[in-house]
Amino acid sequence: MKNEILSLLPPGHPWGQQLIYLNTVDSTNSYAKELARSGAPEGTVVIAGTQTGGRGRMGRSFSSPDGLGLYFSLILRPNCKPDRLLHLTCAAGVAAANAVEKAAGLRPGIKWTNDLVCGKRKLGGILTELSISPATGLVDFAIIGIGINCLQKQIDFPEELQNMACSLFTQTSNPYAPAQLAACLLDTLYEMNTQLLSQKDGLMEAFRADCVTIGQEISILRGEEVRHGKAIGVDADGGLLVQLPGGSTETVTSGEVSIRGMYGYV
Ligand code: BTN
Repeated sequence: MKNEILSLLPPGHPWGQQLIYLNTVDSTNSYAKELARSGAPEGTVVIAGTQTGGRGRMGRSFSSPDGLGLYFSLILRPNCKPDRLLHLTCAAGVAAANAVEKAAGLRPGIKWTNDLVCGKRKLGGILTELSISPATGLVDFAIIGIGINCLQKQIDFPEELQNMACSLFTQTSNPYAPAQLAACLLDTLYEMNTQLLSQKDGLMEAFRADCVTIGQEISILRGEEVRHGKAIGVDADGGLLVQLPGGSTETVTSGEVSIRGMYGYV
């Protein structure tokens, strides 16, 4: 797998040198975090054939069957204050959508803030994690974890995901291998990283163009509380602008947002 990915990258790609492939791991994000703590440089990429404890947002798991999906984590060392990276998940989402389009000719949408979707189904997800140095208050490292369903047939998904998940195969009937997508993703993330701090507005404009949440009736779930509203935009830091029934506007920066009609939500 590693050689296959390297053969698909432009020769001498700056991030091809630190590519680690593992047949199995609990979570590529957790593994990358350990590597980063031990000093691994920016551009280190961890890819696994399968994850036994793939993690998603809000403590959820990410189904990671062997050889059927791409399970990918990247170490970045942006060396800036954490508040300059509020848009990181959005930027990673655009890079992931670019990679899927390049590899499979299909552009997924992005369900705010971190799901790649095709129509009403989830194609993949993004989990970004930051470590901040207590000494300097600066970001020591960031991990961008991306999982994308590639070769699953509908019956390969766990029962609870049957109505809400899809793969590149279910969408295109073509068997795009995780390695193909990995090479494209490494390259689109490299490009994204060159723009991350200097071209935030452009990255956010691209995010808005991909974001399928804007214009939809949504529910905001925070703990036990559920509120309804309409998503009307995404601000410069990636916050979701929501119009509430009384007419006031609120910016949502965390919690779960469901879109009516997606993932089986009616
Ligand atoms: C989500 O759906 O909430 C995000 C899913 C992120 C999954 C990827 S797979 C590679 C990396 N390793 C993990 O444990 N999670 C991310």
